[in-house]
Formats: sequence, structure tokens, C-alpha cells
Amino acid sequence: MPNARPQTQSLHSSPAAAFRRKVLELRSRGRTVIDMTAGDLDFPTPPHVVEAAVAAACAGETRYTSVDGTPELKDAVREHFRRQNGLAFDRSEIIVSNGSSQAIATAFAVTLQQGDEVIVPSPCWATYCGQATLAGGVPVQVSCAQNNGFKLRPEDLARAITPRTRWLVVNNPVNPTGALYTRAELAELCNVVRRHPDVRVIADNLYEHSVYDGAKAVTPLEAAPDLRDRMVTVSGVAKSYSMMGWRIGYAAAPADLVTEMTKVQYLVTSCPSSISQAAATAALNGPQTVLAERLTVLQEKRDLAVSLVNGCAGLSAAPPEGTFYLCISCAGVIGKRTPQGQVLDSGGAVSDWLLETAGVALLPGEGYGLPHYVRMTFAVPGEQIHAAGRLIGEACATLA
Ligand SMILES: Cc1ncc(COP(=O)(O)O)c(C=O)c1O
Repeated sequence: MPNARPQTQSLHSSPAAAFRRKVLELRSRGRTVIDMTAGDLDFPTPPHVVEAAVAAACAGETRYTSVDGTPELKDAVREHFRRQNGLAFDRSEIIVSNGSSQAIATAFAVTLQQGDEVIVPSPCWATYCGQATLAGGVPVQVSCAQNNGFKLRPEDLARAITPRTRWLVVNNPVNPTGALYTRAELAELCNVVRRHPDVRVIADNLYEHSVYDGAKAVTPLEAAPDLRDRMVTVSGVAKSYSMMGWRIGYAAAPADLVTEMTKVQYLVTSCPSSISQAAATAALNGPQTVLAERLTVLQEKRDLAVSLVNGCAGLSAAPPEGTFYLCISCAGVIGKRTPQGQVLDSGGAVSDWLLETAGVALLPGEGYGLPHYVRMTFAVPGEQIHAAGRLIGEACATLA
């Protein structure tokens, strides 16, 4: 008897985790590796947030909370949506989860029937596809043209919608490309969705605070308020307040959907961590100046990484409008031969080769729908960006 059902067997592990094993293996052999694969920020969690967590633990806030989150955090989340998006939600429309991943997986779990389709614009954070599959759905990746900034075009969305389509995923800004949809672009996508009453939109705004050059991340509900009954708006504290490991995300959704999601969340996890919820409340209610200060640092790192990568023969990268990832095109090195005689034929081959040769770990683009690219996280110390640029440049110079 198989140990898991076929859908589960078809799921993939995290591409970052798989590549990280190679990094650890190399390090165990004594090699120094600059790891630029993780979806982590290198800033610490703000001290007042850590203090709030300690205070909560010491005050005995160590019991189960409401399944869908404490009232204090729900109110802080409501205030977040008001401040960030100008959107007002009732407490009954908010669910707090163990990370935004859980909120997305739960939304799929309560809405998808076997064979229902979920449209995922690609390149994308491939986890959406696994989450849809896990819920019995079928992910439908729709290619986003490079000459449209890797953003979904309304005509491509319209073509992809079938009678089985139940969700469109909109990640803004996009992991891995850093593309940022404007309000007008989102409104056009929503115009298509509006014609299909069975299609909902799940907006993943996790990187909403990592948006550069003075731009702002808009969420689909801002662009199409009339679709409120069909929208789930997801975010979390991970990538805003450097709280990746605290595991707190949240979603705003119609109250009846929140009720259903809460039932599933209860079965899977009882509630989010009480201590982490206290920390997230402090992050959302505390001074927000930390976001702007850190954004300035991130933008400097982005510009440094872009200029160093573009100085490496055969590699190129455009400055991302958002996120803290650089999508590096390997077009100019693919087909070239390494001094060891290997012909580089994909982003995966380039990242393996850079790891071995330069000691720099970049994620292969294949896992994100970008076979000729590698993804670099630039939220690492500046000296590592400098060193990586030098090492990658030296390695590329040896290709023939
Ligand atoms: C686009 C995107 N959405 C969601 C997540 C999950 O974030 P969380 O830590 O809140 O579960 C990630 C994590 O990398 C991500 O890149």
C-alpha cells in the first residue's frame, strides 16, 4: 500500500530547503559559502517586539487563544489594513494563522472541490501550486510575458479561465521577479474576474513593505471594491518586521469564509502561538518608522546587487520594484563551457556551478518557473553582496 495518496506524492519540497542541503553539505566539507538563497531578511526582529513576547510569556499568556487569533491582534490587523490599504474590516472578517502560508492553504482547503482550478501567474512562489494540489485542486500556471515585466495580462487571464476556475492568485509585489502591479493593472485583471462569478481572488501582499523608489503596493480589493465578497487579502509580519520564524500571518475575507477557515485551522493547529501573537500585535501597533528605515537600507542593497551582477560577464538583472530578490538572467552564460568542460545548460546548472566554483549559493529559477534564471536574496550583509559580486564575476570570466 502506498504511504501517501497520489496528490501528496506529487508535491515538491521547498526549492530553497533542497538547495540549502547542498550548501550545508559543502560547508561540512570546510568550504566557505555565501548563502543568498533564503527568503529571510537579515535584520533582527525589532527589540520592542521581542520585549513584548517576553512580557507576554512572563505574564502567563501561555494558553490556547481563540482559534482565529486574539482580539488584540485582530484589531491590530484591522488597523494595518486601514493604514496600508485604506480598507475597513470587521473582526469577524479577520483570521490570524501560523504564517500567511497557512491562511492561503486553508482558504483553498475550504473552497476547492476535486479538480477545481487555481490560476497561478508564473513566475511565481510555487508553493501556491502545492497548496492548491493538497486541497484537491489543479494549479494552472499562466505564463507572464517577460516583455510585460513578468506580469499577468488580462487577455491571458481571460484565456485561462474555464468553468472549473475557482481562484486567481495575485502576489504583489511578486516573488521571485519583484514585479509590482499598478492599481490600473489590477483593475484590468479584476475586470476579467468580474465577468466570472465563480472566480475568487486571493491577494498575497506579504512583501508589501519591500517596495522601492517611492512606489506603493496596491492590493486588488483597493482596485475593485465591488468584488469584496470574492476576495481574500493575505499578509503577515514575516517580511515586514523581520519575523519569519514567529509564524504569524493573517487574512481578511468574507465573514462566512473566515468561519469555515477557522474550523479547518482548529483541526490542523488549534490556534497560532500565543507568544507570537503578542509579538505581532506589538509589531503592528508599535512605531512604524522601522519599516522606512529598513527600506532605505534594502534599496541601497538592491542597487549594489544590481550593479555588481550587471558587471559579471553573461549575467544581467533589472532592479526589482519590490521584494528583496534579484532575478538574474543567465542567458549570456547558458551554452558556455566551464574550465572543467561542463556546458551550462540551465539556471540549475549555473547555480550548482556557482556554488561549487565561487562558493555563492543562488536559487535555481526552475522552481519558480524561470528556467534560465537564478534568484539572489540581497537582504544579506553588504560585505557579502560585495564578496558575492566579486566571486561570481571571477567565475564568469573563466567561461568560454
Ligand atoms: C510570496 C510569498 N507568500 C507567502 C510566503 C509565506 O510566508 P509566511 O512566512 O507568512 O508563511 C512566502 C515565503 O517566502 C512568500 O514568498
